[in-house]
Amino acid sequence: MTATSSSQTSDAHGRLWGAQSRDWANLQEPVHRPIYDESFRRTRLGAGTSFLDAGCGSGLAAMTAAALGAKVSGLDASEALLEIARERVPEGRFAHGDLENLPYDDHSFDVVTGFNSFQYAGNPHTALAEAGRVTRRGGFVVVTTWGEPDGMEAAQVIAALKPLLPPPPPGAPGPFALSDRNALTQYVAEAGLQPVDIFDVDAPFNYPDEATAVRALGSSGVAARAIEFAGEAAVNSAHKEAIAPFTGSNGSIRIGATFRCLLAAV
Ligand SMILES: C[S@@+](CC[C@H](N)C(=O)[O-])C[C@H]1O[C@@H](n2cnc3c(N)ncnc32)[C@H](O)[C@@H]1O
Repeated sequence: MTATSSSQTSDAHGRLWGAQSRDWANLQEPVHRPIYDESFRRTRLGAGTSFLDAGCGSGLAAMTAAALGAKVSGLDASEALLEIARERVPEGRFAHGDLENLPYDDHSFDVVTGFNSFQYAGNPHTALAEAGRVTRRGGFVVVTTWGEPDGMEAAQVIAALKPLLPPPPPGAPGPFALSDRNALTQYVAEAGLQPVDIFDVDAPFNYPDEATAVRALGSSGVAARAIEFAGEAAVNSAHKEAIAPFTGSNGSIRIGATFRCLLAAV
């Protein structure tokens, strides 16, 4: 059996996450805005901060940082998402690449973030060590992942796709593998970073109607993989069923979601 290389993993994620790039950028990525705001507040990101968003997607975090005066760089596996990032932040420096092999010198940045990205790397430990390597001494790395699934409404929606995905390889970590405080702390410490604080950010998924919700939820890389495996109709139908309990009398939808963030010092 041939082992999957880091670049194969990165290429696959680039294709999946970029499949519905405009829907991701316009409908789903904005959900994460409160995570960016809180992370930038805690890292005191501001004028002149040298900032890298590792797994920058379509660049909303980069755009937010640029508005605060930071000097912005971003890296992602998806060319389609990077195209949008470049439109949003013309002055930013965006690179197509792999989280496991960052094309930057040691100690290049004051702040490096991985907003829901490191967990998708072929080897998340290598990806985080790379983030640490390119951060200057005294700088910060922020790692964001899903919050605790117990009682989280978004966890029910995520679970709806499980029967539509190919079986994961034995021992593969699930989406909540790093949500546990101890697991997240250990993950960061193993990369040689010093955990400073863990904080949770509520970032509910708000959609005006079912059609928008189905498009937004269908724009993730995980949904793209389910579409490849089970077909778009099955994925849309699973999402419609999963969001029904969160639909208000006016048809709008609100799905509670919490993200867990770890601030680490380098
Ligand atoms: C959940 S999305 C998060 C995007 C963005 N950070 C946000 O907050 O919305 C995960 C991102 O990681 C990128 N990604 C996944 N695996 C990658 C890899 N190995 N190297 C580079 N980027 C990767 C995907 O292309 C996608 O943009």
